[in-house]
Amino acid sequence: MTAFARRAERIQPSAIREFLALAGDPGITSFAGGYPDPTLFPMGELHKIYDDLLTPDNASALQYTASDGLPELRAQVAARLTADGMPSTADDVLITQGGQQGLDLTAKLFVDAGDVIVTERPTFLGALIAFNPCEPRYVSVPMDEEGMDVDALEQVLRTTERVKLIYTVPDFQNPTGRTLGLARRRRLVELAEEFDVVILEDTPYRELRYEGERVPSVKSLDTSGRVVHLGSFSKILAPGLRLGWVLAAPEVLEKLSLLKLAADTQNGTLNMRAAAAYLAGFDIESHIASMLPTYRSKRDLMLRTVAEHFPDGITWTQAQGGLFTWVTFPERLDVAAFQRDLLIPRAGVIVVPGAPFFAERPEAHHARMSFSGVPDDRLVSGVRAMGGLLREALS
Ligand SMILES: Cc1ncc(COP(=O)(O)O)c(C=O)c1O
Repeated sequence: MTAFARRAERIQPSAIREFLALAGDPGITSFAGGYPDPTLFPMGELHKIYDDLLTPDNASALQYTASDGLPELRAQVAARLTADGMPSTADDVLITQGGQQGLDLTAKLFVDAGDVIVTERPTFLGALIAFNPCEPRYVSVPMDEEGMDVDALEQVLRTTERVKLIYTVPDFQNPTGRTLGLARRRRLVELAEEFDVVILEDTPYRELRYEGERVPSVKSLDTSGRVVHLGSFSKILAPGLRLGWVLAAPEVLEKLSLLKLAADTQNGTLNMRAAAAYLAGFDIESHIASMLPTYRSKRDLMLRTVAEHFPDGITWTQAQGGLFTWVTFPERLDVAAFQRDLLIPRAGVIVVPGAPFFAERPEAHHARMSFSGVPDDRLVSGVRAMGGLLREALS
């Protein structure tokens, strides 16, 4: 087929898709997926809500509705954002198909072919997949335990033309689990002002904090409307609802809303009505609080077991929240090859090799490991088996 548009060159199968298919195999211990724990979904409450919605009195739940999202849900999201230091009303919020659609729409709005998107190094692979059809160039900025190195960012902004977007996942980043410190958030906003660049802040893990204090969002530090803030119900309610939001300045939101209309008309009315009913009838804050001990204990187990069983010369991040730790191996270890030749055939374990998380100059000696989806006994036996094979591979 030769008739594809030029952007189709950038639409490639995800390197991780083929082995993620393995994740459904009961014989496989998967540290690869970033799925929330399904036992934590508020199943009973949602069952009752959907039951009530699917009655003749509620036929409007199956009808078309406003493209920007159900007004009631927009207001509820705005109230939660206001409580989190981002004063807003329903008019400031667009409901999207998960955070992922916010990434797609924002790139479409700001990025022409050849424009530069600055990312963290590494960054969320799904964002690159969303951005790629806009044919951007990428420059990635190194991170340390406090997130993006803002001095390095300044250097990039001073020396790079056509930077349009700075993409950051400031809270418990996917894939590293790292959180951007407050002073760096302030500096990030200052730099974006100075160089007239838009910041795209993506926060699906923000509310999954297991220790320490919440850090003000980048959006809350924004005084000129240059931060586009994305959030999602995926990790705090359920990803299958496909509900997320954008908070942005009115002129930005209006255009995003028109792009959304072009893309899919609206989110499913039924799911928006269900989420609105959930937020009105139940206490989502206590639901979130009730999930934290489970994830905290899984994270603790993962970090403890890795420390016990991985050989020397390997480091990993101490995520204070979210679902991931990022493991760095000696440079000579190509994780994709190690996984293909040893980890899958000998231990039935999968991780996500790190290379696809780099927007440019990929590094092969990292892996993202998720602690959310594996029962405790499998977590321990999987990490132990991986440790043994690492010793073999590195000896
Ligand atoms: C950093 C980040 N952004 C966005 C998303 C998209 O999630 P959703 O579309 O389910 O909200 C994810 C999902 O894993 C993510 O990790």
